[in-house]
Amino acid sequence: MAEIIDTRIEPDRAIERACAVLSEGEPVAIPTETVYGLAADATNADAISRIYEMKGRPRFNPLICHVSDMAMAEAHVIFDPISRRLAEAFWPGPLTLILPERRESTVHALASAGLETLGIRMPEGFSRRVISHFGRPLAAPSANTSGRISPTSAAHVEADLGAKLRLILDAGPAEIGLESTIIKVEAGRLRLLRPGGLDVAEIEALTGFPVQRPEAAGATIEAPGMLASHYAPGAAVRLNAEDVRKGEALIRFGGKALPGESAAAIVLDLSPSGNLREAAANLFDYMKKADASGAATIAFGRMPDEGLGEAIVDRLERAAAPRV
Ligand code: TXA
Ligand code: MG
Repeated sequence: MAEIIDTRIEPDRAIERACAVLSEGEPVAIPTETVYGLAADATNADAISRIYEMKGRPRFNPLICHVSDMAMAEAHVIFDPISRRLAEAFWPGPLTLILPERRESTVHALASAGLETLGIRMPEGFSRRVISHFGRPLAAPSANTSGRISPTSAAHVEADLGAKLRLILDAGPAEIGLESTIIKVEAGRLRLLRPGGLDVAEIEALTGFPVQRPEAAGATIEAPGMLASHYAPGAAVRLNAEDVRKGEALIRFGGKALPGESAAAIVLDLSPSGNLREAAANLFDYMKKADASGAATIAFGRMPDEGLGEAIVDRLERAAAPRV
């Protein structure tokens, strides 16, 4: 079973143990502000292989490389002026940039699944300290079995991958709770490959350019991880529910009761006051709680599709997509 170290109580031991395990080419679960990541030395092929194995993740699906500072980023990718402005404004934070990889980058081709670009981000919080101390980028997908809901707590990671992992760092619940927003700048245009924890409106406000939305889920797979069925709980999922059927689990938003909810297996409200940040932070945990209620179906009430709601609705649609 995995050892769990609370980074709020033993930060120094957490860093020391994490770097020791990473140096041996083993993955470590680390807390980021978005979700918990399954991190390994991005320059070590064996270490990266272990990530794919542990998650049961297809190898054509590239990993995001996490850096602690701009100098580390510059050693591996080439910034265009717009991407640089985005990095300066939003890093450390929930933004991943897809950039051309440098020829001399030591990141192993397995991490980028052989693409000529690299997904790169500078995370906020304890993981950044780990990377800084380790001195090399960490490849890290979300620390969950492929296709399942991303973990927003150490307990989520332990329940899913605890038997396979040596070490989990626990920094408490992830502050943002949704994976990073993925942006690719191409020919001076900003393309959204995945909505996430950074509101697209903030990117548009900073750059003055519109961000182009991805095609409908599954239509084209530009970020190879964006397969239609993803973030799937065990239960079936019903979206935009106007009422609740007997025995369903209900996840709603905005504090408004739905007809029939007294016969629900469980009723959870992502944010009774209608705050999208709070809703994002609760989303994956509530999906897991609803799943654990044993209900065969999880009904979701309507969610606003603006701001962070865009990323939340994206995850819900993937959760509801036909399973492969
Ligand atoms: O918030 C996050 O981004 C979390 C934390 C741990 O940092 N990580 C995460 O990783 O969500 P993952 O592996 O679950 O999702 C990475 C996404 C996938 O959809 C992958 O296809 C895409 O990023 N991606 C990575 N490198 C890419 C590249 N070079 N070109 C296009 N898409 C890329
Ligand atoms: Mg993931």
